[in-house]
Amino acid sequence: MNAITDLARALQDAPAELSPSSSLFGLPDQPAHERVLLASDEATGLKTILAVHSTARGPAFGGCRFWTYGDDQTALTDALRLAQGMSLKNALADLPFGGGKAVILRPAGDFDRAALFAAFGRAVQSLNGAYITAEDVGTTTADMRVVQQNTPFVSGIPRDNAFGGDPSPKTAWGVFVSIEAGVKLHLKRESLAGVRVALQGLGAVGWHLAEFLHMAGAKLVVADVDAAKVARAQEKFGAVAVGINEILSAEVDVLAPCALGAVLNAQTVPQVRARLIAGAANNQLATAQDGDALHARGVMYLPDYLVNAGGIISVAREYRNEGEETAVMV
Ligand code: NAI
Repeated sequence: MNAITDLARALQDAPAELSPSSSLFGLPDQPAHERVLLASDEATGLKTILAVHSTARGPAFGGCRFWTYGDDQTALTDALRLAQGMSLKNALADLPFGGGKAVILRPAGDFDRAALFAAFGRAVQSLNGAYITAEDVGTTTADMRVVQQNTPFVSGIPRDNAFGGDPSPKTAWGVFVSIEAGVKLHLKRESLAGVRVALQGLGAVGWHLAEFLHMAGAKLVVADVDAAKVARAQEKFGAVAVGINEILSAEVDVLAPCALGAVLNAQTVPQVRARLIAGAANNQLATAQDGDALHARGVMYLPDYLVNAGGIISVAREYRNEGEETAVMV
């Protein structure tokens, strides 16, 4: 690692006008995060933010996001919000872990992916176990194997006896059973047969969720920025494709956001036509007021940090060497 900068150093490099959505230390009106590390490595182009929200329950555990951010402040806000969400998720799942998350700012142009993730592994190691990483948007089990060569504080890597590894199918399963429960409770329908579900994002989790929903007889409406995934869903599931700007207001029973956060906000909430929202994306609500607005409209919102906990339960079991996640896949 050529340069690991801490917050004091980062202050010098920070833009003069910070967005009001976060400070360097935490989110507005919230206790500050315990620790935030900004690490860079010139040789590989690594720029990463490791946010430890809380270690009250144990080491902070949460995945690593690899993403193209418009600017550094947006990346910081994302890391802080995601880390805080992990504290809630890990506590609600009764895991002996606190909340943390990492983001890597995707370098512009060509880069050596293995070297980049090796440098990221060294950054994780520098926190000496205060933070444990795994997959999130844009990262894979192959990336985590590279990380593992540089630190033991990593999970989401298949074991020899085939448990653990990619958390996304387990996350999808948790979202699926949550949708089933929500449909019974709020829509008073006994099964998913014929229930219309709008799926935003057909990535690692979204695709598995589409498979489960299709098998249960749900009718899928889908959108993704990747046209190939949409075409595959049309072919495999008979899904109806809509534009990425139309999916949140689609005429459906259930909305399942499975792309990025803050999609439910002051602009989009009034347009939602689904009566139930349950999806994998972290931090779907831009603000707590958006949750209130949904409630006032009679829309049931199942909290993301509850319904998408299957993945962290799986990688936590793997990390603690607790064997196959039978508790999850029931
Ligand atoms: P992914 O990167 O595999 O999939 C995201 C998908 O969303 C991609 O297909 C992408 O093209 C699409 N997308 C991006 N912007 C979009 C837009 N504006 N409209 C429609 N589609 C768009 O990520 P993954 O792993 O499936 O995660 C999805 C969400 O679930 C993320 O918010 C992640 O933090 C959350 N999550 C994932 C877990 C996991 O086990 N992978 C665990 C818990 C939460």
